Amino acid sequence: MKYLLGIDISTTGAKALLMDTNGLVVGVETTPLSLSTPKPLWSEQDPQDWWNGITASIQKLLQRTGIPGKNIAAIGLTGQMHGLTLLDANGDVIRPAILWNDQRTGVQCDHIRTAVGKERLIHITGNDALTGFTAPKILWVMECEPENWKRVAHILLPKDYVRYKLTGEFASDRAGGSGTILFDLKTRDWSPEIMNSLGIPAELLPRTFEGTQITGVVSQQSAALTGLAAGTPVVGGGGDQAAGAVGMGAVVPGVVSLTLGTSGVVFATTDGPFIEPQGRLHAFCHAVPGRWHLMGVMLSAAGSLKWYRDTFASDTSYDDLLAPVDNIPAGSEGLYFLPYLTGERTPHPDPLARGGFIGFTLRHSFAHCTRAVLEGISFGLKDSFELMKASGLQNIRQVRVSGGGSRSAIWRQMLADILDAELVTVNSVEGGAFGAGLLAGIGVGIWPTVDEACGNTIQITGHTSPIPEQVDVYKNHYTIYNSLYPTLANTFKQIG
Ligand code: XUL
Repeated sequence: MKYLLGIDISTTGAKALLMDTNGLVVGVETTPLSLSTPKPLWSEQDPQDWWNGITASIQKLLQRTGIPGKNIAAIGLTGQMHGLTLLDANGDVIRPAILWNDQRTGVQCDHIRTAVGKERLIHITGNDALTGFTAPKILWVMECEPENWKRVAHILLPKDYVRYKLTGEFASDRAGGSGTILFDLKTRDWSPEIMNSLGIPAELLPRTFEGTQITGVVSQQSAALTGLAAGTPVVGGGGDQAAGAVGMGAVVPGVVSLTLGTSGVVFATTDGPFIEPQGRLHAFCHAVPGRWHLMGVMLSAAGSLKWYRDTFASDTSYDDLLAPVDNIPAGSEGLYFLPYLTGERTPHPDPLARGGFIGFTLRHSFAHCTRAVLEGISFGLKDSFELMKASGLQNIRQVRVSGGGSRSAIWRQMLADILDAELVTVNSVEGGAFGAGLLAGIGVGIWPTVDEACGNTIQITGHTSPIPEQVDVYKNHYTIYNSLYPTLANTFKQIG
């Protein structure tokens, strides 16, 4: 029997997942990772921790399953996007990696908009300059750490550092590459115009590959360290969101993936490089060759519910907290919750946006508040849906929902009603690592295409259909919700 290995270098752990060639997961091991915040707004990790962590996870996984490294047909990589890893000419790490959630680069984002022009930037890369992305982090090192910048010979994303340690190759995938905003969305490769405008030499960047292409093989040295077999092919893989969408089977236009984790992600595959003209949605290459995706990221989705429970009902289970919500009418009798507890990305890229309840009357009870929290988060996710439709995606026929929040039937019904879309759950729960394993399988010919790999391994396990009367009620409430942020944005600035 042959197996596939999916590797996921997330912010919180280095995960190794082994699956057979029917898509059955036979084992998962994760080594926790921590991050450091040496200054306010900074978020960093030591790349060596990723490599030590994944080495330990692979060793444990092979030991526990008893599967020898030589039975692994191929390896796929995924992980946190946008992070900046800098290596010198010897391949040594120059400084800690600057992560996707680091916020130090506001000034550099302005520099990029000035150097390239905001409209031109969105036209080429599909995106506005956001502090999370890689390019402003590169500019920050150029401007604030010139001694480090002089030593830079290679710029890599987090999972591509692990690829380098595994194979000795400097390579990246196109989903990850587009998350740097140094990428031309149409040509699916680095943009000479953007790099010239920013003064970033092209030779510092790795070659890019489609998610299913082989980028190199496991070296003798890393085989000895991990227990893998030297010569095992390693495919391009993809950034965590793109590989996660593959792991959910959200790979064709019309099927949207909605992840209700701490953050909320709405991910829609497109068959061309669609963009939202103001850059309010992220537009990146998909891990599926020749496809793209639009993505809305809400920073506090299930994270808002967790804050609410921890703050006001810490002794109550989520089931007990949510049960009374069913007795409250849709729209919470005019109570609204704004879910911007950690600022927001989509559709309001505003680090100063704040959370809040609006519309209390004496009628409102604790259960009303709980319902309003769920509705506010769902309205926030609908914002991404509406932007997607406005960007040209008219035919959203199915929403595949995953993440902790999707376990609640009450919340699933509310989302179906608010989005006015059919919601489904699927059997695959391992997200990006599973998707990376599928991409590896395609790379070595186990499945001919991503569509077939997903079709053969991912099944629908449940349906939630919208209730027409509720859909109508929510349409009115959404209009009011939508007016709240623009009304309050200046107040948020004043609060600071
Ligand atoms: C995507 C994003 C996150 C990170 C960390 O744009 O910022 O998904 O990749 O998970």
